[in-house]
This record gives sequence, C-alpha cells and structure tokens, in this order.
Amino acid sequence: MIIGVLSVWLKAVPERLWHWLVNQSTMVVTVKDDDAAFVWVKEWFLVQKFLKRIRHVDLDTTLRSERITMIPAPGKHWFWFGGRPFEVWFSRTENTQERTGRRIESFTFRTLGRNRPLLQRFVDDVMHCHNKSKGTQSYLYVYDDGWDYVESYSPRLLDSVVLQPREKEHLVQDVAQFRKSKQRYERLGVPYHRGYLFYGPPGTGKTSLVSALAAHFGLSVYTANLANFNDRSLMIAANRVPANSVLLFEDIDCMRSSQSRARADRPSEDNGKKNGSSVNTQNGITLSGLLNVLDGFHAPSGVLFVMTTNHVEKLDNALLRPGRIDYKLYLGKATDHQKLELYRRFFPDSSEMEARGFVEASRSSETMAEFQGLLLALEQGGGRMAGSGCERLTNSDAELACLADMDSVEEQSQDQFRLQAAIVD
Ligand SMILES: Nc1ncnc2c1ncn2[C@@H]1O[C@H](COP(=O)(O)OP(=O)(O)OP(=O)(O)O)[C@@H](O)[C@H]1O
Ligand SMILES: [Mg+2]
Repeated sequence: MIIGVLSVWLKAVPERLWHWLVNQSTMVVTVKDDDAAFVWVKEWFLVQKFLKRIRHVDLDTTLRSERITMIPAPGKHWFWFGGRPFEVWFSRTENTQERTGRRIESFTFRTLGRNRPLLQRFVDDVMHCHNKSKGTQSYLYVYDDGWDYVESYSPRLLDSVVLQPREKEHLVQDVAQFRKSKQRYERLGVPYHRGYLFYGPPGTGKTSLVSALAAHFGLSVYTANLANFNDRSLMIAANRVPANSVLLFEDIDCMRSSQSRARADRPSEDNGKKNGSSVNTQNGITLSGLLNVLDGFHAPSGVLFVMTTNHVEKLDNALLRPGRIDYKLYLGKATDHQKLELYRRFFPDSSEMEARGFVEASRSSETMAEFQGLLLALEQGGGRMAGSGCERLTNSDAELACLADMDSVEEQSQDQFRLQAAIVD
C-alpha cells in the first residue's frame, strides 16, 4: 500500500517539478470578467498588431457599438511585448452551478522572467489604451456576483434629453467641476465622490439623463438594483466600481427601511428571531448600509453616485444631506418648452406654428415619455410631411382622429419604453 502511494507520488514528481520551474521562471497576470479591466483588455487587443495574425478569433459587437470587431477566440495565443514573448490563455466556461448559466471568462497572461517593471508596463499599456478611449466610450454594467457588462446597451445622447432651460447645462457644469477637483478634495481632506439625486414622476427622463450624462463624460454606468443586495454585498460591489464611473441606484425609495434610519439600524425582532441572524444578511439593504457605501470608510473614490426616485418624500433626511446627496434635480411634468424642443428633434423642418399646434393638441400627455409616444406615433404614420392629419390641428375632428390614432400606436411605444427600461434594469 505504502509502495503504491509512493510510486504514484514519484510518478507525479517530474510534472510537479515542471510546474515548479514554470512558476519560478514566469510571471502571470489574470483578469476575470467580473472586473472592469476585463473589457479594457479586450479594447487593448483591438489596437494590437498581433491581432492581425491570430487565426482563431471571436466576433464582438460590444466594444465598438454597431461595428463588428475581432478579438482572440478562447484558447491560447502568444505575442511580443517589451521584447518578451507573452502567452495569453483566454478561458470561457459555462457556469453550470447557477440558474442563469452565466459564462465565466478570464484572460491569463504569462511571460518569461521575473521582471516586475515589465509586467507593470504591460498593465500600464492596457490602462493607457483604456484612458484614451474613455472620453468617448460609456459601458453599462449590472451586478451578478461581479459586475457584468451589458452588451446590448447603447448610451443616450445628451441632446436627446430635454429639460427645462439651463438645467442640463448647470448639471453638466457641476459634473465637469467635480471631475477636475480631485486634487482640491485631497488637499482639503474631503472624500472624493459626489452624490446626485434625480427625482420626479415616472417617465420624466431620470434614467435617460443618467445614461446621457455618463456618455457625455465617457463614464461607465454601474447599476445596482438594491433589492438584490444586502449591506455586505453592496459594499463589496461598490468597492469594485473603478474611479471615473457612475454608480447608479434606481428607485432608491424601494430600499428596505428607506424611511427611518432608527428603524433600519434596529434589527427587526421578527427577523432576528426567525432567522437567528442579523438583518444585514438578508436581501435588501438597510439605510445605514447604504449610507456606509455613500460616505463611509469604504466609499469608492472618484465615483459619481446617482440615485433616482419617484418618491423623494419617502427618503430619510440622513440620506439627503450634503456629502451623500450633493445635487438634487427635480424632473417634473413636461412643459411646453420641453415638448416643443422634442417635437423639433423629431421634425427639424417643421414650422413654429406646426410645433405649437401639436403641443397644444397633446395637452393630455403629461410627461415627456407620453409626449414622446405621441411623436413616435406621428412619425411612424409619416409625420407632418406625409400629411397625417395632424397638420390640420385647428380642425377638432382631425385632431381627435389624429390623437385616437396615436393612442393605438402609443401602446407600441410603451413596449419600447419597457425595452429600454429592461436594458437599463
Ligand atoms: N426629459 C426628457 N427628454 C427626452 N426624452 C424623455 C424625457 N423624459 C422621458 N423621455 C423619454 O421617455 C422614456 C422614459 O424615460 P426614462 O426612463 O428616462 O424616465 P424615468 O424618469 O427614468 O422614469 P421612471 O421613474 O419610471 O424610471 C424614454 O424613452 C425617454 O426617451
Ligand atoms: Mg427610470
């Protein structure tokens, strides 16, 4: 028996020796797909000359929106960097343990020698490449045991979100000011992050504004559905958000115990007794858990926190204080000014009178989402150019017919809204 074990062990010696030698004489960098750097490495591949000679490639439409790009396929590839050969192992596994069947991907880079500065140069090169594209790229990530990159996301254009005069400019100025104030914050010893709250009725542009704002500054959006977190997992997720990103909490009022810190801080008797565990281990976060993420010791640096809600009155004052929420913006019912501007975006050649006539005739649409639905219907029906009847808005019969027609198409546009919400959710 002992001899049997010994002979098995001895047989494995050459292999172990080989692994030991390899480990001693090489350096390795691994990046997994739950880290933001995973996408940065993919972006880096796109600008490497060696990509041209790689014969096994994957098609990717996520890195350069609307364009197909080629990245190395799963498996082993090699290239030169800094005069040294590098091997990259792209691994992709199906995650059979989880219901979602999520694929797990990772890159493992290995190179000869023990020259740490070379490895650092390699990492810096990836980072440099990311920084170069950052001004123009904005990605969306959702959390599922790690930040997953949402392939189907296309960011909004800032111009396409219509607010009250000067509101958008003021907000953009605020973000720009924050982004160039890192050193000032450090000098003053103030944590470098800023909280924004967009509040107001549904369909007024809160989510669209976050997407557009992030895209304008080339920031990626990390969106966390608070219902899927507990205090601990939220802290872990927030810590993994890189600087120069937006961390988005939608419908912040739906968090457990959003109304009272006292209540949130006190584990409910029921929970304590039934589960024998702290309230923090359940799904749903407490107010103090959220406050810790926003400005506790673990708050990520260089991040814009954006929160949205339909019910600002439900929020605790502790959450609303500066340092946690530094900028509040109310997005209300659509004004004529907003409607006119959106109309002109749809029909740039229209006259002032046509635009005003349409706005007048669609008084019943209270939010920009509703008004957009009407415009989509109008546009789909050929718009004013094709003489949809909406041109003659002074004629009340035509007006009613036109709006009735819009109603039916409005249902279709509701689906589009849901689709968009689904992308962002
Ligand atoms: N201010 C706006 N300017 C341009 N489009 C808008 C505006 N507000 C809403 N929309 C349009 O309405 C739709 C819904 O907007 P969005 O999802 O941003 O609203 P929301 O305020 O986040 O709503 P909710 O509170 O339900 O999440 C989008 O398709 C968007 O294009
Ligand atoms: Mg929204």
